[in-house]
Amino acid sequence: MSTKNMILKILEENRGKPVSGSKIAKKLNLSRGAVWKGIEALRDKGYQIEAVTNRGYSLSEESDLLSKEGILVNLKSNKIKGDQIQVFKTLDSTNQLAKKMAIDGASHGTVVIADEQTKGRGRLGRSFYSPKGTGIYLSIILKTDNFADIGILVTTAASVAVCRALSKIYGVEAGIKWVNDIYLNNRKLCGILTEAITNFETRTIDSIVIGIGLNFKTKDFPQDLSQTATSLFDSGEEIKDTRNRLAAAIIDEVLDLCEDLNSEKFISEYKERSMVIGRDISVYRGNDQFEARAIDIDKQGGLVVKKEDGSIEVLNSGEITVRLGDSDEN
Ligand code: BTN
Repeated sequence: MSTKNMILKILEENRGKPVSGSKIAKKLNLSRGAVWKGIEALRDKGYQIEAVTNRGYSLSEESDLLSKEGILVNLKSNKIKGDQIQVFKTLDSTNQLAKKMAIDGASHGTVVIADEQTKGRGRLGRSFYSPKGTGIYLSIILKTDNFADIGILVTTAASVAVCRALSKIYGVEAGIKWVNDIYLNNRKLCGILTEAITNFETRTIDSIVIGIGLNFKTKDFPQDLSQTATSLFDSGEEIKDTRNRLAAAIIDEVLDLCEDLNSEKFISEYKERSMVIGRDISVYRGNDQFEARAIDIDKQGGLVVKKEDGSIEVLNSGEITVRLGDSDEN
């Protein structure tokens, strides 16, 4: 680890509280001058570090740069190690890189996170708006030999994981629109794109990449999203929290829930958070479209619907919109 990052680790461990230059120097076996240089280098990178007279350096509570050190300090799980977290300033897509890494042998739990995505990808070939410094764009690689028949369960689990993290940290209770969109106040806060890497020879799934995009403090959405998207902090209030902390909580919850996918324990929580059960919906599947009523979520995360002719069908793919009289919600 570089000197700068070792200093950052100490500051992160004491966020908001001053740590004296001599204490840092002693701990890292450095001169005071080297500590000062490291602090300057961190400030140049954008970290808000205050020098408190006679008390030392303090990383401000509001300083919100993504970093491995900042995520690790908040991570509760011991399921992954520091070198499994890769943080980037900008990437085309974290899912894209994570898929390459999975093919090249990246281990279970590896995380790719970026401050900005230039080609953030959504479901069904859509894009995901990923501006710099305002969102959480992360991908987690899962490896297991037990992927048979889990279908959309991983996505279902990831949605519950994000909701649990939001609830634990902020007491915010979000809703889930089948299958993987997370809503706050009837607007989309977070989207999830799960992709599988299959082994052509054995016809099995080698790895799964769960991509999570969450609007943390994004404000100026492009016109096509301005009426449907929201952020966790969107009203200009002072934000005394960091993306690192929420990202760590999401990683913790995803790793926990995905440990035992077949237990299906989280399905009841998913159902409680469902925004569609009991509602009239329009279903879009390829070129096919039909109207139905959403009646349940099955053990595999499939949406059970009653069609207009009274027949029951379980949806495992496709897109739905909730119907509001004549117009669709989203
Ligand atoms: C959707 O809303 O349709 C899914 C959006 C998923 C976006 C995330 S951001 C991190 C990861 N990398 C991507 O390119 N997409 C996912």
